[in-house]
Amino acid sequence: MNKSKLNVAVIGLGTVGSGVIKLLRKQKNNIKKRTGIELKVVAVSAKNIRKQRSVDISPFRWIASPLTIAKDPDVDVIVELIGDMDNTARKIIIEAINNGKHVVTANKSLLAKEGSVFEELAKEKGVFLRYEAAVAGGIPIIKVLQDSLIVNKISKLYGVINGTCNFILTKMESEEREYQDVFSEAKQLGYVESDPRLDIGGIDSAHKLALLSCLAFGTSLNFKAVKTEGIDHLSIEDIQEADLIGYKIKLLAIAEYSRNMLKQEVSPKLIRKSSPIAQVNGSTNIIAIEGEEIGTTVFSGPGAGMGPTASSVVSDLVAIASRKTKSTFLNGDKKNDSKSDDSVSKKSSFYLRFILKDKPGVIARLSGKLGSFGISINQMKQKPHPKQKATLIMTTHKTLRTNLNKALTDIMKLKICEQRPVCIEIQEV
Ligand SMILES: NC(=O)c1ccc[n+]([C@@H]2O[C@H](COP(=O)([O-])OP(=O)(O)OC[C@H]3O[C@@H](n4cnc5c(N)ncnc54)[C@H](OP(=O)(O)O)[C@@H]3O)[C@@H](O)[C@H]2O)c1
Repeated sequence: MNKSKLNVAVIGLGTVGSGVIKLLRKQKNNIKKRTGIELKVVAVSAKNIRKQRSVDISPFRWIASPLTIAKDPDVDVIVELIGDMDNTARKIIIEAINNGKHVVTANKSLLAKEGSVFEELAKEKGVFLRYEAAVAGGIPIIKVLQDSLIVNKISKLYGVINGTCNFILTKMESEEREYQDVFSEAKQLGYVESDPRLDIGGIDSAHKLALLSCLAFGTSLNFKAVKTEGIDHLSIEDIQEADLIGYKIKLLAIAEYSRNMLKQEVSPKLIRKSSPIAQVNGSTNIIAIEGEEIGTTVFSGPGAGMGPTASSVVSDLVAIASRKTKSTFLNGDKKNDSKSDDSVSKKSSFYLRFILKDKPGVIARLSGKLGSFGISINQMKQKPHPKQKATLIMTTHKTLRTNLNKALTDIMKLKICEQRPVCIEIQEV
């Protein structure tokens, strides 16, 4: 059944594209020896032909228009690695599939929005669409969900799937630095997407979570239903206070499916220090899956970067050549009432930080308002704050998020806060 030779066109020669060319060159003989498959790069394309590259592309045909490659009769597989800046990647993928080419892509943002359209088209045209590198870089989580765990009824999936946010939170903690300072360093190091909101706003994690959800639960792709909050409002003080009560702050992506309801959320959470999720530092990713047969299984590894991402892309090429692939995972047909909101039914404890006007009676008014919504305080401490202000840190007993939101809105109306309070759920995972 194996097609022993696959002609590959790589579109996009940045971090991942260059890595793929390097890896294919380095592993050519090994791939042939171990799988019997020859993966041959026949054409490449990028934006700027004159750009200095970290890899020698002179042996390959340069094609100025990527859409032309998508129609090239000599090409079996298009590897799309240009990103989702404009409509180009979308056009390439559609054109390639329509012309009977297999497609490998790492484009999570495009897949989160249009993956099911691509899969449907690929199925119709009898070609394969693969995207192992789109989620968690080098961790083979897509294959795990499509293949290894296929007989498991999965109820929950959660983890840290954006290395940039985890790098920032880890550095804030270990070097006792403020968010803005570490964010600037991450930007200088090239860790932040050209549109930073994708990373620090939690959107990149939401893209990946949307893909993982439908693979795990068999639901339809619904990126817009992911409740998303970023990390840019967090302060070193939040990290230190969480530490004092035994927690770390992580940008957690979590999806749960029960009673036809899919809950998808990306937001900062307090995670107990002993949890494996809390122990993932820097740009490493971690994903835990709870399944009926496997219990809780945890996968951890490099979430991005040239080598890990290229490794996933090349594994997709080998899978296509070996005809080991599935096609319709982003088109799940299970009921998916994503609009249901568990803030009205699930109780959690919360960490809160207020910066208050330093006047008599403000704490009484604040706690009175919390009490009027049935929210009881577990721990509370007041700290001095420069310039006639006071910082109030507290954790609550278990309460409904919806009640807490109402209380916080009312507290803001009291005009006793200097800024919006920071509110982070304490997540027991
Ligand atoms: N970097 C990672 O660790 C990582 C991890 C997982 C997934 N991904 C995904 O992988 C994809 C590629 O990421 P990357 O980090 O390699 O990006 P990158 O370093 O910014 O490279 C993008 C490449 O695409 C080319 N390009 C941009 N617009 C183009 C256009 N309109 N037509 C033709 N070529 C175009 C650029 O050409 P020039 O070189 O000529 O400018 C460049 O070679 C993205 O979808 C990203 O989300 C990346």
